[in-house]
Amino acid sequence: MNALDIDLLRKSARGKAPRDRSTAHSLDRMTNLQVARRIVIFTVDAAGIASLVDAARADIPGLTCNRTIQTVANHNPDTFWAIARKDHFDISSPKGEGFFAVLPLTHEGLRGLLDGSLDTRNPDISCITRQSERPAGIYIWCIHAKGTLAAAIPLVLEKISTPLYRGVNLYSRPVTKEGLRVLEPLGFTPGARYDGLFAPNLQMCDRSKDVAAAKFRREPSVSVRVVQSMDEMARVIAIRGAVYMGEQQCPFEEEFDGNDFSATHLICHKDQEPVGCMRIRYFADFAKLERLAVRHESRNEGLASQIVSTAIELCRKKGYRVLYAHSQKRFLEFWEQQGFTRMTSARDFTFSDFDYTEVKLETERHPQSISLAADPYVIIRPEGRWDAPGILEMSANRGVSLLASAR
Ligand SMILES: CC(C)(COP(=O)(O)OP(=O)(O)OC[C@H]1O[C@@H](n2cnc3c(N)ncnc32)[C@H](O)[C@@H]1OP(=O)(O)O)[C@@H](O)C(=O)NCCC(=O)NCCS
Repeated sequence: MNALDIDLLRKSARGKAPRDRSTAHSLDRMTNLQVARRIVIFTVDAAGIASLVDAARADIPGLTCNRTIQTVANHNPDTFWAIARKDHFDISSPKGEGFFAVLPLTHEGLRGLLDGSLDTRNPDISCITRQSERPAGIYIWCIHAKGTLAAAIPLVLEKISTPLYRGVNLYSRPVTKEGLRVLEPLGFTPGARYDGLFAPNLQMCDRSKDVAAAKFRREPSVSVRVVQSMDEMARVIAIRGAVYMGEQQCPFEEEFDGNDFSATHLICHKDQEPVGCMRIRYFADFAKLERLAVRHESRNEGLASQIVSTAIELCRKKGYRVLYAHSQKRFLEFWEQQGFTRMTSARDFTFSDFDYTEVKLETERHPQSISLAADPYVIIRPEGRWDAPGILEMSANRGVSLLASAR
């Protein structure tokens, strides 16, 4: 395990608040929430992995070869995360400035890590879990996050705290003197245990109590997902009723304009309470993002930004490269922050008592976009959840029924 800039990591892990306004935007002086709003964590394609790993070689001698890291990422995409500062990030050409790589290990893999038989420079792929499989332990394979970027590391660790990974212990092998202390503020202690084995040369972060704690603690969490049920649709209607009809006095017939059944809806929850939503409609050459709303009491917490970035990711995975929206003029800056620009030929117009202009985002093809070449089981997975097996492929285990073969 390699990591840089211990001081920054310590400060970030303790969630220090900004000390004064002049330095409030420096990454090392921000709380985790502030860091989260200024850092982008994303997955990259093979070329992206290669360029990040090549760039790290100067700082990390003896780093595993690109092909091994790529093989692991192909096997389980949750193993490699690129990190970038938002103000250095261009969504149309996403480039990382650092990265974080992990090995989610099977029972045998974790035993091998502790008894020394697992070669972490060239790990046996059968020792690494698949994306939807809960690992026995997670090995922090490599971190390259120089300077202020190191403040993002606790946020990347949150990526491996989703329900699938919650309570799974983390392991690391510090290879430098600094590395010995680098993860200490995040709860790592010297020596690692698993299944009766003890490895004094490893560090371990014991998260086994997290599972029990999670059962009793109400987690302040934010989620944005595709609406899949009438209950979720009722939540969307309630939010739009409150925001557009209540706040903006939009007549019912104009807000619920007949297009809701030809659209995808996103719902955003905070602490299990529905707080935001958006609608997406699809045309041959572009997808249109519309009806973005966040309840008044939850504004200025970055929720609309999260909803828009989920919508962009969803549309890109569906193969869209052009996203289009009508921005209320007063929100033009908001859309620009999300990567959209006012179209050169933008028309200005009004409806439902507000003035609008046309904004557009052009992106590269998403490396994992769904095409006709995709596995048919992937194509029939629930919208937006193409990374995990869906209910229909599980039904494939039943085979063909007698009824079908009798025809
Ligand atoms: C527009 C709306 C969805 C923003 O929701 P939000 O969750 O408060 O937005 P975020 O917290 O993600 O804000 C992101 C950025 O937009 C900016 N922003 C938010 N509301 C703004 C406003 N009223 N005017 C100008 N900028 C605004 C914020 O400054 C923030 O920038 P920062 O991160 O640098 O501070 C919300 O105000 C809303 O629901 N408005 C009513 C519905 C509406 O008119 N929607 C039409 C959108 S075209």
